Amino acid sequence: MQKPTKRILSGVQPSGDLHLGNYLGAIKNFVSLQKEYECFFCVVDLHAITVWQDPKVLADKTREVTAAFIASGIDPKKNNIFVQSQVPQHAQLAWIFNCVARMGWLNRMTQFKDKAGKNSENVSVGLFSYPTLMAADILIYLATHVPVGDDQKQHLELTRDIAQKFNNDFKTDLFPIPEPLIFGQATRVMSLRDGSKKMSKSDPSDYSRIMLTDTADDITLKIKKAKTDPLPLPEYVKDLNSRPEAQNLVSIYASLQNNSLEDIINKYKGKEFSLFKKDLIDLAVSKLEPITLEMNKLKSDFAFIDTVLKEGKDKAITVAEPVLAKTKEIIGFLG
Ligand code: TYM
Repeated sequence: MQKPTKRILSGVQPSGDLHLGNYLGAIKNFVSLQKEYECFFCVVDLHAITVWQDPKVLADKTREVTAAFIASGIDPKKNNIFVQSQVPQHAQLAWIFNCVARMGWLNRMTQFKDKAGKNSENVSVGLFSYPTLMAADILIYLATHVPVGDDQKQHLELTRDIAQKFNNDFKTDLFPIPEPLIFGQATRVMSLRDGSKKMSKSDPSDYSRIMLTDTADDITLKIKKAKTDPLPLPEYVKDLNSRPEAQNLVSIYASLQNNSLEDIINKYKGKEFSLFKKDLIDLAVSKLEPITLEMNKLKSDFAFIDTVLKEGKDKAITVAEPVLAKTKEIIGFLG
C-alpha cells in the first residue's frame, strides 16, 4: 500500500448552523491548504448524533455544511467532500480503536467534561467514545495532517496516542502519527458576549455568535452589541492579553483581513471601539455575505450537492477500504 506524505483529513459536524469560529478556525484554512495537500473533508454526521439531532433537520444540515465548504472556496473537483456515515469503514475502525484506547485517556478529555457537565451519567456512550471515532476518521485515510481549531488539539493528541499504541502493540508502522495544523489569527474564536467562553453552537445566546446563515443586518447588530471594555484600543498587542473581548474582536478582524494583530493594532491604537466596530462590520459583511449567498443557493440544489457527495464517497471508500483490510489482517481477523 502506498503511503501518502501530504494528505489532509478534517471534519465538521452538521449539528446546527455553522458559526464564525468554524469558518475562521477551520474552513478558511481548508481553502488555503487545498493547493498543497490531497484533501478529504468530511461532514461528520456520526459525531453529530452523539447528542440528539432532529431527523428532519439532520439531512438539511448535512447538505448545508457541504454547501458551506464549496461556497467558502473548496473545489469539489479537486478535493474529496463526503459524509461520514456513507463510508462505513470509519465506524468499523472506530470499534477497533475503542479496543486500543484506554479508559484513562478518554477520562481526561476536557471537551467531554464540558459537554457532559453534571449530567455525565445520562449522556450517550457515543459522546464519551467520540474521540476514538475521530481518530478513525483520520487514520482510515492514513492522513498525515489535520487542520482544526484549537479546541480539537486534545483529540488530536489522543489520535496520535492511538496510532502509536496500535503500531507498538501489533509491531507495525501502518498508521502515521498525524500532525495538527492549527494556524491563523483566530484559532479560538470567543463568544461575542463573554470573551472567556468559546464561540459555540450550544451557547443559548444568539448574540454570542455570528452564523454563516446571518444576513448583513444580523452581523451588524451582533457586532454592535458585542461586549467590549470601556478603554480605547491599546498601543501594543501584548496589552490585549488582559482584555479578552478586545483581543477576540481584533483577532477576528485580523483573520478576516489576513493580517497580523500588529497591523490591526497599529491602525487602531488609541481609537474608540465604536469606530473599530464600524470597520469590523464592513469587513465582516464584505467577507461573509458572498459566502452566505452562495451557500444558500447551493444548499437548495440537492442534485448538485448529492452528486458531489456521491463522488466524494466513492473516492473515500477506495482509499479507506484497503486500510481497513490491512488493519484487520494485522489484528488476525479472517479476510
Ligand atoms: P466541530 O464541528 O465542533 O467544529 C468544526 C471545526 O471548527 C473548529 N471550531 C473553532 N475554531 C475556532 N474557534 C471556535 N470557536 C471554534 N469552534 C469550532 C473546530 O476546531 C473544528 O476544526 N470533533 C470535530 C469534528 C471532527 C474532526 C474529525 C475534525 C470529527 N472527526 C477528524 C478533524 C479530524 C468537531 O466536533 O468539530
